Amino acid sequence: MLNALRWDADLIRRYDLAGPRYTSYPTALQFHEQVSSFDLLHAVRESRKALRPLSLYVHVPFCANICYYCACNKVITKDRGRAQPYLQALEEEIRLLGCHLDGRQTVEQLHFGGGTPTFLSHDELRQLMAHLRQHFHLLDDDSGDYGIEIDPREADWSTMGLLRELGFNRVSLGVQDLDPAVQRAVNRLQSLEETRAIVEAARTLQYRSLNLDLIYGLPKQTPESFARTVDEVIALQPDRLSVFNYAHLPERFLPQRRIRSEDLPSPGQKLDMLQRSIEQLSAAGYRYIGMDHFALPDDELAIAQEEGTLQRNFQGYTTHGHCDLIGLGVSAISQVGDLYSQNLNDINQYQSSLARSQLPTSRGLLCGDDDRLRRAVIQQLICHFELDFSTIEKALNIDFRGYFAELWPALRQMAADGLISLDADGIAILPAGRLLVRSVCMVFDAYLQEQSRQCFSRVI
Ligand SMILES: C[S@@+](CC[C@H](N)C(=O)[O-])C[C@H]1O[C@@H](n2cnc3c(N)ncnc32)[C@H](O)[C@@H]1O
Ligand code: SF4
Repeated sequence: MLNALRWDADLIRRYDLAGPRYTSYPTALQFHEQVSSFDLLHAVRESRKALRPLSLYVHVPFCANICYYCACNKVITKDRGRAQPYLQALEEEIRLLGCHLDGRQTVEQLHFGGGTPTFLSHDELRQLMAHLRQHFHLLDDDSGDYGIEIDPREADWSTMGLLRELGFNRVSLGVQDLDPAVQRAVNRLQSLEETRAIVEAARTLQYRSLNLDLIYGLPKQTPESFARTVDEVIALQPDRLSVFNYAHLPERFLPQRRIRSEDLPSPGQKLDMLQRSIEQLSAAGYRYIGMDHFALPDDELAIAQEEGTLQRNFQGYTTHGHCDLIGLGVSAISQVGDLYSQNLNDINQYQSSLARSQLPTSRGLLCGDDDRLRRAVIQQLICHFELDFSTIEKALNIDFRGYFAELWPALRQMAADGLISLDADGIAILPAGRLLVRSVCMVFDAYLQEQSRQCFSRVI
């Protein structure tokens, strides 16, 4: 069966290496400071010449309260006035980039992420969308995929109505866990009723797709409590579910120091949580898309996977991988042609750069031939769990076995262990290997070295 998963605890223990999530290859760890706004503008000009469609990502970093587990790039503040100078900078960035693009380049995909985009007031959201529409060709017939991340504690029916009116048709809600003890331990109190109200609003207002985020491995979670959360969430019938593994890296993410390590579930308990949630979701009809994501069979991602058109970029799994991705806002990443570029991470530096009308590019990477090739291999494996050598050979003009000869012993070992099947025609990731797809991708990663692995989390 397509996307079937087989649970093999022994294989998971052996192959669950810490590694990248491959929303890009090369990953952001390889970005360097020799890439500047000059390179971005050059790539944008090429995009304009080719009239490639666009995907816009807008980062709104503010949150009113801190969740201790959070690893996102955010600014915690109760001062809503902080939004104004940020929005001014964002508008300048939109103007500076928009004027280099062609009005015929339609924005097929738009995503507001954060932080918490609904930290902004209704007027601010209205103004930001009007500004985007002024400088980019946004679709106004609801045919684009326009999504926004919502914290149900920071939204109500009227927010949902406004966002629908502004053109959004997809929502992703942060839930994480419904158990009050867990919520207290991570400083995120959010009742099921609050979440349900937003889910009902999304349905009534005919949003096309609804995603909920859960995290397993949080403090005070037990396999039983998490199973209850999963059951309650399934009852809400989201189209998609993200089930993330909590990565406890308190040296890197300071607020995580407020989580007591003795409250964290053991690796064995985490394995149980993942296994049970997969069983519950499969029984409820969800398909495993890959890398923490599940979707109902009639969801666009599941259909794209079945049809072989699914792709992966900084927005996660997507059906818009053919678009150039323009990232707007602090720390946002763009992918335009073969260029990756990332904005400044610090909000003050970001704002002062744009106050001088300078694009806030701070680093990035221009892909070479080898990067493109490995990117195609990793994309194919992570989206479709199989790789046909002759397709890649034709598309990229190489002899696959010759090019990757030194990888064969590692691949053979994976085949012997039952993670993949390997023959003269290609590689297929077996049901027992699907949760470990990143370990297979890592074989093809030319940059991966032991010391950089500690920067990544594991699957489980
Ligand atoms: C920007 S937030 C979503 C929108 C909104 N801020 C909220 O929390 O509802 C993105 C998601 O990243 C996930 N996340 C954040 N920190 C994480 C961590 N340390 N480990 C795993 N997932 C994490 C959470 O599931 C969260 O919902
Ligand atoms: S999980 Fe969401 S609301 Fe919580 S701190 Fe992170 S970005 Fe903010």
